[in-house]
Amino acid sequence: SLLKEEKEPITILVTGAAGQIGYALVPMIARGAMLGPNQPMILHMLDIEPATESLKGLKMELIDAAYPLLRGVVATTDVVEACKDVNIVVMVGGFPRKEGMERKDVMSKNVSIYKAQASALEQHAATDCKVLVVANPANTNALILKEFAPSIPEKNITCLTRLDHNRALGQISERLNVLVSDVKNVIVWGNHSSTQYPDVNHATVTTNSGEKPVRELVVDDNWLNNEFITTVQQRGAAIIKARKQSSALSAASAACDHIRDWVLGTPKGEWVSMGVYSDGSYGIPTGLIYSFPVTCERGDWNIVQGLKIDQFSREKMDKTAQELIEEKTLAKSCLN
Ligand code: NAD
Ligand code: LMR
Repeated sequence: SLLKEEKEPITILVTGAAGQIGYALVPMIARGAMLGPNQPMILHMLDIEPATESLKGLKMELIDAAYPLLRGVVATTDVVEACKDVNIVVMVGGFPRKEGMERKDVMSKNVSIYKAQASALEQHAATDCKVLVVANPANTNALILKEFAPSIPEKNITCLTRLDHNRALGQISERLNVLVSDVKNVIVWGNHSSTQYPDVNHATVTTNSGEKPVRELVVDDNWLNNEFITTVQQRGAAIIKARKQSSALSAASAACDHIRDWVLGTPKGEWVSMGVYSDGSYGIPTGLIYSFPVTCERGDWNIVQGLKIDQFSREKMDKTAQELIEEKTLAKSCLN
């Protein structure tokens, strides 16, 4: 027929939608930044009772924005209604850290939310739903969700370290004065915390004379091995200090990047960082949600294999794994 083929709408749940990341994220999703310009969606937004009015206001604004791709909005404080038949879940609901706190300081409040919401998702979401946990401590919340939603395939539960990955790209681009889109294949290993290891050993920049290693272009190894790493590790804290609130638009943008690449695939020759359930690759213990370099194809991620790991990297990768083991123990004690 002459009519354009219309795709079936995909249902996306954003938890904590009335918060500051939510306010940046839902318009990005509705504009097509997450699933592309031809994919209609139905948006479910969950928050808690005290946020009821603010959530209603957000729904009004979404309607007023007249987004062509947005085919329905459900704003609710009922977890079961929120989870009903959802295909993609972005879990932002929880409590952010404030100045002077580490991300694990928000542990006890947040892991109990993830335990409770795991069962609602397990019972009511679409069987193949893909989950991205954003709320901190992101890796450990995702692990708790996985443990309390055993029927969701473990490959479908991930956490956000794409913001750290993008921060690393941003720092290299600023340092070399090159387009951020010409920098690729940085890696963020481990926890979304100050022990994460942003690794540039395999990163390259596209130049007029081909692909060049970041290490060759930057020259200053001292900057790469020290200031670059701590800047990326501490960027969340620097933003909290400056804004008095944690990062929001960059977190929302990274969440869109994470889901888009997962669902639609990573570009040829490129990988991205995702917090995923460890299969023991690179000697990282199983039983943790750990950030690895991954490529995605047809809705599946795969850990990039065979990268050479030097002693400097090894120590940093193990240190952040160790922190995740400790967080896991702490999370379990919070739930008892
Ligand atoms: P916010 O306080 O502005 O919003 C959080 C929202 O979650 C609030 O509206 C709150 O009412 C809601 N909420 C609380 N408990 C809930 C529950 N049980 N169910 C549903 N909703 C619930 O916080 P924010 O700045 O939007 O940040 C949200 C989370 O994301 C924080 O944990 C923050 O630390 C984290 N974060 C992670 C990254 C990352 O890269 N992984 C980046 C930025 C922020
Ligand atoms: C970030 O990285 O900006 C977020 O995780 C917020 C925080 O607590 O640092």
